[in-house]
Amino acid sequence: MDDRHQEVWLDQLPSLSREFFERHHRPLVIVSYAQSLDGSIATRNREPLRLSCNQAMVLTHRIRAASDAIVIGINTLVVDNPQLTVRLIEGTNPQPIVLDSKLRIPLRARLLERTDHRCWVACVDRSDPERIRVVESRGAEVIRCNGDLLGRVALPHLLHQLGERGIRSIMVEGGSQVITSFFEARLVDQVIITIAPRLVGGLTVLSRHVVGDGSQLHLNPASYQSCGSDVILWGRPQWQTQ
Ligand SMILES: NC(=O)c1ccc[n+]([C@@H]2O[C@H](COP(=O)([O-])OP(=O)(O)OC[C@H]3O[C@@H](n4cnc5c(N)ncnc54)[C@H](OP(=O)(O)O)[C@@H]3O)[C@@H](O)[C@H]2O)c1
Repeated sequence: MDDRHQEVWLDQLPSLSREFFERHHRPLVIVSYAQSLDGSIATRNREPLRLSCNQAMVLTHRIRAASDAIVIGINTLVVDNPQLTVRLIEGTNPQPIVLDSKLRIPLRARLLERTDHRCWVACVDRSDPERIRVVESRGAEVIRCNGDLLGRVALPHLLHQLGERGIRSIMVEGGSQVITSFFEARLVDQVIITIAPRLVGGLTVLSRHVVGDGSQLHLNPASYQSCGSDVILWGRPQWQTQ
């Protein structure tokens, strides 16, 4: 993987992720989000915040198009009601996936109206069969996963099931709890952050402490480039002991 040439890396992602799957038996995970200089990804009240400039939004859509699937948490769906398409570029829309342990998804969500992909909604195994039926009757496909210690979707089991469905790469777009869980589970292979030159004082990207035992997460090597008025920072995460 040549981290210094992101455009090339994105073009090669389909073949890289196939090789990755052969070796690791799970999809390659890219965490990609936009933050302010102080690490905010939304307002303090979790209201949506447009952080990326237009050029950086185009890059985000390129990352989406290069990925087989895109993952968001149910809070992001409720707050932003996103479409998760690549409408700013020519390319293929990734498979949308929502982590929604208790099937709280609003039945009028825009993702349920997509005609190109049925939205995949990952819930926990013990979910109410009637609620599963209702959500599926709105066009979604429900994926039942083991629960983690907090009763939410267990990420290793989710990735295993996505692999069985042919998914070789996923882009994790947010929000903060979902990104935190992927870091905590050490299931992140590439990080691509859009940094907007602003201070916001809002909801920070990590919702809890994910490092312990004196270890820290480094992007190594870290690369960066300017993109319109923003800076894109990317690299492979590595846990290092201080
Ligand atoms: N700047 C950006 O790039 C960007 C991108 C995306 C979102 N956002 C912002 O992020 C905010 C939402 O973030 P958030 O932290 O409140 O929520 P979130 O991460 O979008 O969703 C969290 C919810 O997902 C469900 N979930 C299921 N399995 C999970 C797991 N293994 N780990 C974590 N969550 C799991 C949980 O609800 P259940 O227990 O009910 O399943 C959890 O409460 C919004 O304000 C949105 O605008 C910003």
